[in-house]
Amino acid sequence: MGTLSEKVEQIIEESQNDTSEVIQVGNLKKRYTNITALNGVSFSVKRGEVFGLLGPNGAGKTTTINILCTLSQPSSGVAYVNGYDVVHESAEVRNSIGLLFQETILDNHLTAEENLYLHAMLYGLSRKEYFERKKDLLKFCELWNKRKAKVETFSGGMKRRLELARALIHHPQVLFLDEPTIGLDPQTRKKIWDYIFSLRKKKNITIFLTTQYLSEAENCDRVAILDNGIIVALDRPENLKRMIGEDIISFRTENNQIAEREFQEKFSKFPIKRVGKELRVKVDNGDKFLPILVKAISPRIISMELRRPTLEDVFLEITGRKIRENNKEINEEEEEEKFDLSSLFSIFGPSNKKNE
Ligand SMILES: Nc1ncnc2c1ncn2[C@@H]1O[C@H](COP(=O)(O)OP(=O)(O)OP(=O)(O)O)[C@@H](O)[C@H]1O
Ligand SMILES: [Mg+2]
Repeated sequence: MGTLSEKVEQIIEESQNDTSEVIQVGNLKKRYTNITALNGVSFSVKRGEVFGLLGPNGAGKTTTINILCTLSQPSSGVAYVNGYDVVHESAEVRNSIGLLFQETILDNHLTAEENLYLHAMLYGLSRKEYFERKKDLLKFCELWNKRKAKVETFSGGMKRRLELARALIHHPQVLFLDEPTIGLDPQTRKKIWDYIFSLRKKKNITIFLTTQYLSEAENCDRVAILDNGIIVALDRPENLKRMIGEDIISFRTENNQIAEREFQEKFSKFPIKRVGKELRVKVDNGDKFLPILVKAISPRIISMELRRPTLEDVFLEITGRKIRENNKEINEEEEEEKFDLSSLFSIFGPSNKKNE
């Protein structure tokens, strides 16, 4: 017989190994008078997964979340959350989930802890439970020192963190986050993601979120790409990008003419292109090919960059459109991030074999 703490640990371990499906959606449709918001959506989400729904404005992301959270009824199809039918067992569904809306719904005239208290009372928590969890969650979201301040004095990021704390106070098994980071600065967005990762790790909560940020969708275990109410792709981000199949290597050498000729002689099946001062080549498996390329070229390599296809490339490939053609603000932020990320892959300076 093990000790009590060993038993508790065993239960936690078993629940963490439990990869059963906590969300099941079958052929879900939602029609409004003039528009079909969802046109036959099917997917499932496993316990402990961070599952992302990625799509442009009007794709049907909020509609999907609203149905799963019982705020809206489907026109047809089925959906189960934690084993409960969202139409016929809505109370059970609501008790087992937490929700962060796309629009903030905090009461600005109340303090941070008053907002939490209101929510705790709605869910029937005892005062003891409320006090324990309030402290735990406000510390987790780094708002403990601000607990007595009115929400109207909070920044956008602080409000979002408080909403996250509120959505968690009744210990939900599944957390729905509708655009949790929209409009926040990159630093605060990163912070929200730190909470999301730590929630999954520490509490094994299943997280279902929507986003228009491609870089954030990459953080998810699996991503469904929604377009015009239809799921056009669903897989792990790395598998989705592998569909594109090609990595892009750009490099500059001290003599591009010789480098280009040598490359063509040795790797005739990969077409090489000159783009400005760079040579550019698409290959199937960039990280394996990169060291081969470095060895095959005799002029000294000045710079080299390996760029992998992005989820934007995937969306473009499938739909023929960019995910957010009209959203200037988000596009500009993504551009900045792309720059940061690509610089990680860069190999600068005289670091190839010629100098060894
Ligand atoms: N109550 C409603 N009545 C009529 N049409 C609606 C209603 N709610 C949503 N729609 C329409 O359904 C479609 C999907 O909307 P939804 O809010 O689910 O999109 P979304 O993917 O969340 O978009 P966004 O990224 O802008 O939040 C849109 O065309 C929208 O105009
Ligand atoms: Mg939405």
